Amino acid sequence: MRILAIESSCDETAAAVVEDGRRALSNIIDSQVETHALYGGVVPEIASRGHMQAVARVAEAALREAECGREDIDAVAATCAPGLIGAVLVGANFGKALALGLGKPFIPVHHIRGHIAANYLAFPELEPPFLTLVASGGHSLLVMVRGYTDFEILGGTRDDAAGEAFDKVARVLGAGYPGGPKIDALARKGDAGKYTLPQSHVKDAPLDFSFSGLKTAVINLAHHAEQKGETLDREALAAAFQRAVVDTLVLRLRLAMHETGAKKLACAGGVAANSALRAALENLAGEEGCGLYLPPLGLCGDNAAMIGAQAFYEYQAGNLGASGQNAYATAEITEDICRKRG
Ligand code: KG4
Ligand code: ZN
Repeated sequence: MRILAIESSCDETAAAVVEDGRRALSNIIDSQVETHALYGGVVPEIASRGHMQAVARVAEAALREAECGREDIDAVAATCAPGLIGAVLVGANFGKALALGLGKPFIPVHHIRGHIAANYLAFPELEPPFLTLVASGGHSLLVMVRGYTDFEILGGTRDDAAGEAFDKVARVLGAGYPGGPKIDALARKGDAGKYTLPQSHVKDAPLDFSFSGLKTAVINLAHHAEQKGETLDREALAAAFQRAVVDTLVLRLRLAMHETGAKKLACAGGVAANSALRAALENLAGEEGCGLYLPPLGLCGDNAAMIGAQAFYEYQAGNLGASGQNAYATAEITEDICRKRG
């Protein structure tokens, strides 16, 4: 089964053709990152308009690269939640209209389910159940993937997502946008032991985490240094911050593995590209004797191939979009976005 998938939930307009949930025949990503970098972050209306201008061209390119005609497509999928609503609406509506025009089913996909499904493209042998750390710009979750469309949230952030914390700290350090890759690069040159940063624990919720205290500690350190006229060691501070984030995530993952007895561990989302996190997960998997699934860097960030992969399993579960299918700014990974009201 060949699915043409569309992704437009943030600042990437993407389209892909995916076969049977496991093979990307094309994966086109048109990034607006340079536009938003001028503002230090994503400007929602500019993102929506950018998707509007790019989506048809990107979809055509995905078909061309996959060497598919429209008649070769069996269904159309699009991210319908969560994300910047104006941005999600563009791709979702385009996908719905295209499905209608082709006379094919429309499959709405939850963006975070898609991030997890990036692992199915990278690892054809991977099947649920497995434990996943989802760490993106908008979400940080510990999820037990019980089945392809069956998820249990074990823990999550109480405030900032991991990627959001990276982006905010990068701004304070004047490192630019998007912050994750910039902090990653700075941290490689820094001494993580030079600054001491706090690690938060959420009372009575050992699998939940919080990054706002850590972020505030970095901001305070930077301001105090400025007030005292001291030169901030940006590389060391980036390294200390990154280490604190990675330690926080890995501690919870280890606990979740012990609690669930999971023998397979996957990672998903933009922050899965972080070099220190990847190294720490390799260690964790080695120590715990479990299988580790880390998508290649190109499948960690937003893309449409991951949406096409998840769409295949949503289709098999009968999760199809009706003509009134809506898009949503927020939706839990456990929610059924085909039957959600509103
Ligand atoms: O999954 P994603 O592409 O979009 C969302 O669904 O949010 O994640 C984007 C996030 C951004 O916050 C970005 O700074 C972060 O992923 N990111 C990284 C790295 N590369 C991207 N964070 C840490 N280290 C990286 N190398
Ligand atoms: Zn994403």
